[in-house]
Amino acid sequence: MQIHMEKLILAVGEALDIVEGELLGASTNHGKRVGILCAAMGRSLGVSEEELRVLTAGALLHDSALTEYIMAERQGKQHDPAMKLHCEYGQRNLEALLPGPSSSGVIAYHHERADGNGPFRMKEGEIPASAELIAIADSLDVANHLQTLKFYDLPEIRSGISQQSGKQFSRRAAQAMLSVLDDDMLLLLRDESVKDVVERLLPPWPVDMDSEVVKDFAEMVIRIIDYKSAFTRRHSSGIADKAFHMGGYYGRDTDEKVELYLAAALHDLGKVAVPSAILEKQGSLTDEEFTTIKEHVYLTWKMLKDIKGLEDICAWASNHHEKLDGSGYPFGKKGAELDFNSRLLACIDIYQALSEERPYHPVRSHRATMEIMYEMAAKGLIDPEITADMDKALGD
Ligand SMILES: [Fe+2]
Ligand SMILES: [Fe+2]
Ligand SMILES: [Fe+2]
Ligand SMILES: [Fe+2]
Repeated sequence: MQIHMEKLILAVGEALDIVEGELLGASTNHGKRVGILCAAMGRSLGVSEEELRVLTAGALLHDSALTEYIMAERQGKQHDPAMKLHCEYGQRNLEALLPGPSSSGVIAYHHERADGNGPFRMKEGEIPASAELIAIADSLDVANHLQTLKFYDLPEIRSGISQQSGKQFSRRAAQAMLSVLDDDMLLLLRDESVKDVVERLLPPWPVDMDSEVVKDFAEMVIRIIDYKSAFTRRHSSGIADKAFHMGGYYGRDTDEKVELYLAAALHDLGKVAVPSAILEKQGSLTDEEFTTIKEHVYLTWKMLKDIKGLEDICAWASNHHEKLDGSGYPFGKKGAELDFNSRLLACIDIYQALSEERPYHPVRSHRATMEIMYEMAAKGLIDPEITADMDKALGD
């Protein structure tokens, strides 16, 4: 399938910035600012167009393994090994999206220091240039909250960069940062402007994705979404596996099975914007909390709707809470407006949510899950034939 990679990267980058904002209490848009700074530094160093694209993509996605890293820390792993994991997983994510030698080491070494005191103990000269640029942009943004930095604070920041040249930062990266970090750049990094600027960073980038790459990409998205909350840990992956399986049950070809898998991986992308406190709340939700949860599917649609080549997948993913009688959300579509794969994903989402453990109910058996689904089908809410097929295909 052909898709516009730049839009996919922006959509994932947006989801990441939202997760990071909540998990770390860091300001959102961090990845975007690192992306803007790296693109500017890459230009000032005169890197090739190809390198610039990969550098910008790597910068936007440099924290893509953040949720996994936090999980490793919660499980008691020491800072250094957990940091290495964050780097290695992030690199794996980038390579899933952009296979090839130009991606090598871009995210893996973004926490290295020129003096060799980073997690992999690499030194200036051994670290890939792109990783050095991401490293300096990342640490400056985290340490100084560049989105709110005042112009009069800039000289102090710049002298700090010079002092750390050859120590924390490579000389090349420090020089590149000094050449781009000025008053004009601060304006671009403000929360009000950052989104518009980022949308112009990457050139149109149509790529043919084979099914292997699509599946790897889907798995990256799943890790970002599912790791956000203990109660959704296996939700997207469970749905993706079942969507693939049902595709097989219906005799679909590999491409379509993988497309179903991707749609399933993306269906709850908007959940990254729902606070975990609401997702994990024990007991009943207030009306306001319920509205916040319902918004997730609208946000999924909003994040995916402009990605060229992803039109069908966006529709299947964002129709998963619609009901055949029009009582679903966000658009209140009715049966005739819901194609087969949209109906299928809606059924699988319900099956998965009913059968998995939630704060408000324990694990349910296949039989108990199917009983509730048959009732919903009888009420005209979900597709009765798909429901019966799922009973056959997923039962033991
Ligand atoms: Fe990082
Ligand atoms: Fe970061
Ligand atoms: Fe959902
Ligand atoms: Fe879901």
